[in-house]
Amino acid sequence: DVYMNKKIKILLTIAVIAMVYSCNKPSNNDWLKTAIDRSGEQLLNAAETFKDSLKNPRTFENGKVKLVGEKDWTSGFFPGSLWYMYELTQNEKFKTEAQHYTSLLDSAQYRTNTHDLGFIIYCSYGNGFRLTADSTYKRIMLNGAKTLMTRYNSKIGLIRSWDFNKDIWQYPVIIDNMMNLEFLFWASKVSGDSTMKAACISHADKTIANHYRPDNSCFHVVDYDTITFMPRLKQTHQGYSDSSSWVRGQAWGLYSYTMMYRETKDEKYLDQAQKIAAFILNHRRLPEDKIPYWDFDAPNIPSEPRDASAAAVIASALLELNSYVPENKTYFTTAETILKNLSSDEYLSAKGENGLFILKHSTGNWPKKSEIDTPLNYADYYFLEALGRYMKVKGLEE
Ligand code: GLY
Repeated sequence: DVYMNKKIKILLTIAVIAMVYSCNKPSNNDWLKTAIDRSGEQLLNAAETFKDSLKNPRTFENGKVKLVGEKDWTSGFFPGSLWYMYELTQNEKFKTEAQHYTSLLDSAQYRTNTHDLGFIIYCSYGNGFRLTADSTYKRIMLNGAKTLMTRYNSKIGLIRSWDFNKDIWQYPVIIDNMMNLEFLFWASKVSGDSTMKAACISHADKTIANHYRPDNSCFHVVDYDTITFMPRLKQTHQGYSDSSSWVRGQAWGLYSYTMMYRETKDEKYLDQAQKIAAFILNHRRLPEDKIPYWDFDAPNIPSEPRDASAAAVIASALLELNSYVPENKTYFTTAETILKNLSSDEYLSAKGENGLFILKHSTGNWPKKSEIDTPLNYADYYFLEALGRYMKVKGLEE
């Protein structure tokens, strides 16, 4: 019996060790490895394929890859993706390609007719400077930020977004414009020019006051009167209707108010980001897989196209928001769900397909019937950014 007792004790000990071991077992991250490997393969293939065009790939529509130059608002994302992939893999090939595709955008620094210099310059040169400290990049960025400031009217207190439709709008500001402020915060710190930071804060505050609705969704376009400086029209341009919630607009807002909190530590921006997160995450038309349809109010949900680009922006934003509010577990779990689903065969391209883009199923401009259910270079960019942020949260090596 002494012998039996001993046997039971040994068995119990083994059982306890097995239990403890299985609880501490690292979670299965095969999807993450697949996502990075397949993304890297597509990106490198794209970089080699489009080299001679001296342009950056934007989308793949009607069987053709659309290539764009520095005038296009999306031209910074492909080089930005190459920089992120270099960061994720440390593979020098990505750095060489990133340097080439970034250098194509040099003249953007002088473009006064766009508010998108943040997207164009910060996603490309900004990541390049962060990873290489190349002083040429820094010079181009500081010039670009000065150029962007020419679009800031201190009386209105906002950066002007668009110059077209002059017969309809006096001073149009779109929610997307918030995304370009991150670039100005960087330039303000590096140059010591505090007017840039002040402009960001003014722009962000007026956008809370005039773009946001009581339910914490936002309009796409607010047009300001150039004499009274007051809002005169609230509309959409890429959404379903003026009063609808265009999903990428909600995503830009979530991302940029989280960024505003990072840059200022002003709690009002954290509060705004959390309100936007609640609007998105609690929306009854956000599907189970958390990849939104292109507009929350699109009439034919669930038969409407998805927008993987909005999903990627939301995932990246939620991972940063999670770092400020870790007690709200839904930020992390939703981001993880989005990233796992974007890494499934439904969304992640197979080798060589989808015009050599990484993700399928984004929506660019539904009202214009343009880029519907296509890849978009910014979906890929924010997807890679989010994968990097996810790895940091999980303590995985990049
Ligand atoms: N900034 C334009 C867009 O989000 O489509």
